[in-house]
Amino acid sequence: MGSPFIYEEPVGPTELIDREHEAERLLDRLLDGRNTRLEAPRRYGKTSLLLKVQQDCRDDGLVSVYVNFLGVLTAGDIAERIERAYREQLDSPLRRWFTGLVRTLRPTLKAGGPLPVGAEVAVTPGEGGLLDRLSVPRRLMEKHGKRSAIVFDEFQDVLRAGDQVDAVIRSELERHRDAAAYVFSGSHPGMMRELFGTRRRAFYSQAGLVALGPLGAADLAEEIGRRFAAHRRDVGDALGPLLDLAAGHPQRAMLLAHHLFQRTRTGRAADSDAWGAALGDAVRDVDGEVQATWQALTATERRLLAAIAGGTAGLASREARVRYGLAKTGAHRGALERLEGEGQIVRAQTVTGWQVVDPLFALWLRSGREWPVWD
Ligand SMILES: Nc1ncnc2c1ncn2[C@@H]1O[C@H](COP(=O)(O)OP(=O)(O)OP(=O)(O)O)[C@@H](O)[C@H]1O
Ligand SMILES: [Mg+2]
Repeated sequence: MGSPFIYEEPVGPTELIDREHEAERLLDRLLDGRNTRLEAPRRYGKTSLLLKVQQDCRDDGLVSVYVNFLGVLTAGDIAERIERAYREQLDSPLRRWFTGLVRTLRPTLKAGGPLPVGAEVAVTPGEGGLLDRLSVPRRLMEKHGKRSAIVFDEFQDVLRAGDQVDAVIRSELERHRDAAAYVFSGSHPGMMRELFGTRRRAFYSQAGLVALGPLGAADLAEEIGRRFAAHRRDVGDALGPLLDLAAGHPQRAMLLAHHLFQRTRTGRAADSDAWGAALGDAVRDVDGEVQATWQALTATERRLLAAIAGGTAGLASREARVRYGLAKTGAHRGALERLEGEGQIVRAQTVTGWQVVDPLFALWLRSGREWPVWD
């Protein structure tokens, strides 16, 4: 029987645990025409939440479009993503209207397409096409009197599409006050801060913050228990250790619950054997990712992560120096900032003042950079 725990892709609105409060806030802001930035570590459920909010917006009569910027390299790529989102997500008759409209817009210049004649002399030929596609909500309001709620997911990647692209985007969006409201979502805290928190950038202070924290233990316990029961299983005594290890990390909680479910037979309760086997399965799942993350770190970053995951002494302490080889002074400030910017660590009420975001990576770090053995 298929497991009721999805952990490899965004979940649908009916499978979303908790987040009612955040969904309501996002919807209210969109209905009020206010822009929002949604920030959370990787795999905290941003996209899943945004898909729910998109549905809520539609239920409230807004036109809602979700665009994912992951991997864009140019203004033309962004234009292409936006165009495709409208093409795929508008309901007819708006879809028919858009099909006609798009033929009147300047080209997107996506990679591989032909450059228009004379494009070599233009400074940024892709920007015209981008501006035209960004203007669609304004045209939709003029033509059909409909307001839009637009989600730009993985928005930090605009920074990779050229230094001025955020300014180009803002120049059009600031004309949308009555036509559309936006959610900008991103999983790279450093780049989101660069976009929305630096004075010289076009989006400085342009969007109120909604942040996603870990999921509550009570919500997770209830939902995991319910899904086991719905498939004639009992999560049993394994629930406690699962909640402790996942520490509210949404994707890690679902990953662990999935493997525990697979190791629990119909009509039975999950016991310590099942939990041990599930941990082994989970570790096999994430090992490649953990190794790749580790390989990409500098020596100072590794030492900091080990000390933070260890959590037994402050980063400037003698113990941190002896046990993890950390330099005494502020020599590691830059590395700390990088780790935080990359979303590897977040501030927390711990002895180091930090916490490793991924609890499975933290377990591996804590166990001497190898996996514990469960039998
Ligand atoms: N509220 C939730 N309820 C249930 N599962 C969740 C929830 N939030 C996240 N998840 C789990 O986390 C996984 C990742 O969710 P999602 O892709 O929405 O996160 P994300 O923050 O957009 O991730 P990324 O940073 O990789 O874009 C989902 O497959 C699901 O297992
Ligand atoms: Mg996502």
